[in-house]
Amino acid sequence: MKNRHISFPSALSSSVSKTLATVALSVIATGVYASCDPGERVAKLSHVTGGTTHPKVVAANNLAERVNKEMNGKLCIEVYPNSTLFGDGKELEALLLGDVQLLAPSLSKFGSYTSKYGVFDLPFIFKDMDHAIRFTNTPTGKELLKEMDEYVGFVGLGYWMSGMKYFSANKKLEVPSDAKGLKFRVQTSDVAKQMISAMGASPQAMSFSEVYGGLQTGVVDGQENTWSNIYTKKFFEVQDSVTETNHQLLAYLFMTSRDFLDSLDKDTREQFLTIADEVTQAANLAVKEKEAANRANILKAGGKINTLTPTQRTEWIDTMKPVWKQFENDIGKDVIQAAVDA
Ligand code: LMR
Repeated sequence: MKNRHISFPSALSSSVSKTLATVALSVIATGVYASCDPGERVAKLSHVTGGTTHPKVVAANNLAERVNKEMNGKLCIEVYPNSTLFGDGKELEALLLGDVQLLAPSLSKFGSYTSKYGVFDLPFIFKDMDHAIRFTNTPTGKELLKEMDEYVGFVGLGYWMSGMKYFSANKKLEVPSDAKGLKFRVQTSDVAKQMISAMGASPQAMSFSEVYGGLQTGVVDGQENTWSNIYTKKFFEVQDSVTETNHQLLAYLFMTSRDFLDSLDKDTREQFLTIADEVTQAANLAVKEKEAANRANILKAGGKINTLTPTQRTEWIDTMKPVWKQFENDIGKDVIQAAVDA
């Protein structure tokens, strides 16, 4: 791995310095984290989130930091954030084609490959992130990591928690009927679509990189996301307010492809998997703190947050929870029960 601090020796001609400066600036502008030397085995990690305080950004960069320091070129990770390499419409296909080796997409984006991950989207199934983490540590949660290995060739390396989700809109939302007639951006999740319909609103699937523009231009009226996404993507700037509904989990499948994993020799693979697991544990321990900090950042930046009374909260639960029934067969009653019991 190269020295990550780019410096320009005085002996270089000014035009060479300028070219290098341009490269350095473009690296800073696109935010690619770490670059590898010729001869090193490179793995590209692509993701869609941005900023510096987002749990996925921190986890991805920590992974690169550790692998690049400890594996001494046997493997070197380059991180491409902010949909700069692949947006969420293309990244899973790119993994299958070998154009990228590591991803961490939201569990809500796997509908074309498995319906089982719908369990993570069921509204109000997890009380909080600790509950979700407990579920991922159950035999059912661990089994779900392997769900797509045999047939698709996607290998789950771990679950990265992101946070609970909150609704924002171009008007204040206190009860679900306030959302009637509004258009909400959702991820490509059938559960999310039904949940929005249950509120009397219209769901509109849209990639993450298009959400800010969609909200700003009124293509959609609202969206649902974590504090970290609402802050780092500045959604609060183009919304009336965010309502602390806490209605759903956002978590990621930190993943690779079977082809990539099998292409590593045994020692390299084992060292990588150990680091990946340690980074995952550390990321999940730190996520609550990051979410709280980004909630505070929204307020500091002038965003508005609405809290719910217990009666208002019950209305949200009563409106959205009936959606579970529609997905019982696809997800499996046993999987849903294991999540509830965790
Ligand atoms: C979204 O599309 O809203 C999120 O999945 C983005 C992310 O990766 O956090």
